[in-house]
Amino acid sequence: MDCNAQQLDQFLKKWYQTFGIDHVFYDLNSIKPKIKKQEIFHEKQTSFSTLEDLKKAVLEIDCILKKTARNTVFSDGKPNSDIMIIGEAPGQEEDEQGKPFVGQSGKLLDNMLLSVGIKRSDVYISNIVFWRPPGNRTPSAEEIALCMPYVEAHVSFIKPKVLLLLGSIAVKSLLNTSEGISRLRGKKNIYKNIDVIPTFHPAYLLRSPGQKALAFRDFISLKKLLA
Ligand code: URA
Repeated sequence: MDCNAQQLDQFLKKWYQTFGIDHVFYDLNSIKPKIKKQEIFHEKQTSFSTLEDLKKAVLEIDCILKKTARNTVFSDGKPNSDIMIIGEAPGQEEDEQGKPFVGQSGKLLDNMLLSVGIKRSDVYISNIVFWRPPGNRTPSAEEIALCMPYVEAHVSFIKPKVLLLLGSIAVKSLLNTSEGISRLRGKKNIYKNIDVIPTFHPAYLLRSPGQKALAFRDFISLKKLLA
């Protein structure tokens, strides 16, 4: 195994462990073709000199989700914002419009931002996975691992003051933890020197409105970090 493949092996093992899957070796065997693509990413990554380059590279990712999705959902909003928001994966409306958080969850997100005086047009929004999983299922560990190097490059380009992570997939993926949101929220979290606010996914809040008060506290913390 060469150096890139070895690094990737470690990377994928870490992902499989984070997502609680213990049959790592079987899974690694079954995703050999994807490993090749990841090696291509490692060779290509130095050519991402602009956000537009990164977007072009994302459009070229060979992900199985592209077979069923209509659009690649890269981002929406202001690239020079102090706030970058990252969710899980596009839903049906996002897939149709090619923009993140434009459905019911997006409306709730917009309102929660407004409740602390932040306009949607003043933030930058993206997701961990760039395509809608069929039937809105949770993205697989393999799909997440395929997107993560691009997500990490994405955050480096935007360099926000604060990262607002919506839901457990975004939180586990970027904070590299298996802890749940309820344990992580309300505490100081950092990703590569950037302050992180982990909070509940708006889709969860739509199902469990009783948790909105806690989420509101997280949005107040977000606002305070910007002061
Ligand atoms: N849920 C997400 O996680 N992201 C979206 O873009 C829409 C719904």
